[in-house]
Amino acid sequence: MKITVINGTEKQGVTYKLKEIFLDELRDNAEITEFYLPKDCPEFCAGCTTCFLVDEHKCKDAEYVQKIEKALFEADLLVFTSPVYVSHVTGAMKSMLDHFGYRWMPHRPAKEMFGKRAVIITQSLGSGEKSAAKDIKDSLSWWGISDIRVCSFKLMSDIHWEKIPEKKRKKMTTKLVNTAGKIKRIDFSHPARTSIGTKLKFYAVRIMQKGLGKDNPEYTDYKYWKSNGWIDKTRPWK
Ligand SMILES: Cc1cc2nc3c(=O)[nH]c(=O)nc-3n(C[C@H](O)[C@H](O)[C@H](O)COP(=O)(O)O)c2cc1C
Repeated sequence: MKITVINGTEKQGVTYKLKEIFLDELRDNAEITEFYLPKDCPEFCAGCTTCFLVDEHKCKDAEYVQKIEKALFEADLLVFTSPVYVSHVTGAMKSMLDHFGYRWMPHRPAKEMFGKRAVIITQSLGSGEKSAAKDIKDSLSWWGISDIRVCSFKLMSDIHWEKIPEKKRKKMTTKLVNTAGKIKRIDFSHPARTSIGTKLKFYAVRIMQKGLGKDNPEYTDYKYWKSNGWIDKTRPWK
């Protein structure tokens, strides 16, 4: 199994520890590629819209974005982690997700994403772990991923792993080990089932793309949908 991990912080703190507990359960049978933010995607989206309107390879940050995209496409399992910063994901994670706006379903979703599985790990000191997970889940689901599992935690104690009460550490460990156990039992030779919600998004966008194509058959996103056969009978899921 191939796993690609996007770490929302470079710090080897609590988030890192939680991610390591999860990955340790899977290492034996996995080839793991990890990215640490902001190091591996250090620039902000400038809002130039070149990716949307022209070509994602012409983005000023394409060297970083395309390297991450390739690893996301190649992986069977995607893992996203982030501590909560002011009730949301870290700025570094948000900045990376902004770069993938062109992969949202209303633009040019990648067919590779539809059968993928993903795990999101977030933790807060006292609040925001669910909204941080949602920040990531919003992108993943609009990329076309249906099987998204969330492990979010509230520390309610200290922000240093060793100082967190043992009972609390055990509880978090159990949740992560159980989630990894469920992942281990998946037959990755089959893509994840595409949910009704994902299909509804796809069909709503398809109507929109048909309209855009009528107005301008040269429109970048429409041409992409057309060339994939999605305006006709082909679908990105099996
Ligand atoms: C800039 C910043 C903002 C934070 N904002 C919140 C917050 O809004 N709510 C919260 O419960 N914890 C907040 N925290 C605590 C973190 O979510 C986290 O528990 C802590 O940084 C430890 O995680 P780490 O070791 O992985 O960095 C914040 C921490 C930082 C550095």
